[in-house]
Amino acid sequence: MLKVEGVSKRYGETVALADASIDFRAGTVHTILGENGSGKSTLVKLLSGIVQPDSGGIVLNGKTFSGRNPVAFQSAGFATVFQEVLIAPERSVTDNILLGLDGLLKRNVPRGERRERARAALARVARTPVPLARPAGLLPLAAQQLVVLARAVARDPRILILDEVTAALDFADRATVFELMRALADKDRLVLFITHRMDEVMALSDRISILRGGKVVRTEERGVSSPDELLKAMAPLTAAELVHD
Ligand SMILES: Nc1ncnc2c1ncn2[C@@H]1O[C@H](COP(=O)(O)OP(=O)(O)OP(=O)(O)O)[C@@H](O)[C@H]1O
Ligand SMILES: [Mg+2]
Repeated sequence: MLKVEGVSKRYGETVALADASIDFRAGTVHTILGENGSGKSTLVKLLSGIVQPDSGGIVLNGKTFSGRNPVAFQSAGFATVFQEVLIAPERSVTDNILLGLDGLLKRNVPRGERRERARAALARVARTPVPLARPAGLLPLAAQQLVVLARAVARDPRILILDEVTAALDFADRATVFELMRALADKDRLVLFITHRMDEVMALSDRISILRGGKVVRTEERGVSSPDELLKAMAPLTAAELVHD
């Protein structure tokens, strides 16, 4: 369904991604596992159209995406929850959840419907009640995280990308997000799940890709490798490997 083909991205001397290729299948939870700095968020930004690869490309159902163009990615059904919580602090929870939706639906959504859509999206990601009218900047971080998750879900994405989103959540909300991920995969959507936590990897993934120093060192079904083998494959780079050309 979705292919990342030979994608490379450098930031000055730093190689964030090096000729990375991954095939993603609809109807799966696909985990991206890797140490700090291995390139996970760079991959997420490429798949959201906010960073442009130096070479290589992204192909969705045969259509190639090129350039920096977040709107094209959103229109194609990608929705991303970034590692940094991005909210408009002065605006209400409802406004934050529906941010950009008018443009996507190509109509102005009336007030009552806005509240209802925001409430429904929140219910899919959280047990914790979040006050819809409150400025999002006044909420605790965990609630802000729920707001950005609800924003992604409100778009009914074909491809939902979650970059380390569970860290701030309590147990019940984390469980709700996991149920949502499974439900989306069962509806033939693709869920890209970025995490460090091996318990989450083993519980949730259908397929797993490991990034190490910007390279995809393996992509496989869950169960092929043990947690120990996965940890070995993602081992931090050695001093010799860190030397750049
Ligand atoms: N905007 C940037 N400018 C310079 N270097 C960057 C930039 N973004 C990422 N990098 C570097 O690229 C490499 C990959 O970063 P990336 O954020 O993709 O890693 P990550 O796997 O998401 O790490 P983490 O687990 O800490 O979130 C790192 O060495 C990082 O310092
Ligand atoms: Mg990251």
